[in-house]
Amino acid sequence: MWNGISFLVARNAMIKRLQRRYGDSVLIAMPGFGQMVLVSTPEMVKEVYTAKPDVLHAGKNPLGEVLGKGSLFSMDEERHLRERRMLLPPFHGERMRSYEAIIEEEATRGMAGWADGVEFASIESFQAITLRIILRAVFGAEGRELAELEGLLPPMTKIGQQLVTAPILRRDWGRRSPGGRWRRMLAQYQRIAFKLIDDHFADPNLDERIDILALMLRAQLDEGGEVDRADTADELLTLLVAGHETTASALAWSVERLSRHPEVLHRLEDEARGDDNALRLATAEETLRVRPVINATARLVMKPFDLGPWRVPPGHRVVTGIALMHRDDRFHAPARAFDPDRYVGKKPDTYAWIPFGGGVRRCLGAAFAQFEIDIVLRTLLRNFELQPTDAPSEHEGFRGVAFAPAKGGLAVVRRRALPLDESAEAEPAAVATS
Ligand code: HEM
Repeated sequence: MWNGISFLVARNAMIKRLQRRYGDSVLIAMPGFGQMVLVSTPEMVKEVYTAKPDVLHAGKNPLGEVLGKGSLFSMDEERHLRERRMLLPPFHGERMRSYEAIIEEEATRGMAGWADGVEFASIESFQAITLRIILRAVFGAEGRELAELEGLLPPMTKIGQQLVTAPILRRDWGRRSPGGRWRRMLAQYQRIAFKLIDDHFADPNLDERIDILALMLRAQLDEGGEVDRADTADELLTLLVAGHETTASALAWSVERLSRHPEVLHRLEDEARGDDNALRLATAEETLRVRPVINATARLVMKPFDLGPWRVPPGHRVVTGIALMHRDDRFHAPARAFDPDRYVGKKPDTYAWIPFGGGVRRCLGAAFAQFEIDIVLRTLLRNFELQPTDAPSEHEGFRGVAFAPAKGGLAVVRRRALPLDESAEAEPAAVATS
């Protein structure tokens, strides 16, 4: 998905024409990627996502190579399933909800600088918010390490994205080359990550810590194994790369869509006065349908794979066209309409609504991302009026990992004199300073 296929597949007008002409599965020879089968019906997507882990691999992709051998993206089969089992618990249920305070605090902090009546690109602010949420909830970083990582990681992920799309750049061609700069930044990153790991071990309250790094360390200790600091640092970086820009882009799309759909916006404001969130959750789901931030997922065929009437040989890639499916009237009529009500009190279809992919590789952070979007949007709605606009819809722009509004999700807001939350104090929420 992250390896350029995403970029090539879903926004490529030629591929849409091919789909119209030849049907829902198309074999494409793509320079650099080899033979690729693109599927875009729920039936075939289901066959892909329910295939056995030894038949379809997701590993061996450039992102995994850049992030290192300790990254979930470089693992398959047994090792991948073991790692997922270890990482999953904090991304669900009560454990996940324990991050609500961090999310709300960071959203409030990030929005504190929003100026009344001045148009701004909301994605910048959402990126800062989602970065700090991951650094605190996943890395358990505070104080000096939080500040250092906050400065280092945005330029580092930017270079990492170049290395993913152009393997030749991965070599260290000297101090100023992308490969050379990556190597230096990686060393700096590891120094900070190793310090965080050591501090966690030295913490007498390690057992009570709620951050995901603490959970990873406890799980590794429970298994009786040695903690490999380099692999652990790779995995932390993976969670950051996978979860930061994707969630920020989804939030920017929410702003872009809502400012063009005042009728939905006003109903959301009403809902935000209380504790209900059915419409807000449905709005996030509908936004991810009409504007999926990842457009395709890819698998590498390892053993002959039966797909519909065909047998796909090893070496081919099978790609699910997320955006193609989401915009197809056969599965989401009327697909062009922005209509959150279609998901109020109703779960989207597992194989027709696939913004988080599916099967054993389904996004590990999907529930966390939806929770995070919900709390950040709630904070926005309660504290600001978002001004509707009749400007044309923003186009989609590729930002290296995800598709985001090309102008960054432009917004004009006005701070409410009184927050909408009926249970809130009359004073605006305090701004965190850490
Ligand atoms: C709106 C936000 C997000 C979107 C749209 C998104 C989407 C995706 C997609 C499409 C995949 C590939 C699934 C597949 O190949 O079937 C994926 C994988 C992954 N995502 Fe997300 N993601 C989001 C947020 C997050 C967050 C917040 C985290 C964690 C903090 C995260 C962690 C991961 C990981 C670790 C994987 C790899 C799973 C594996 O290979 O087993 N994602 N995501």
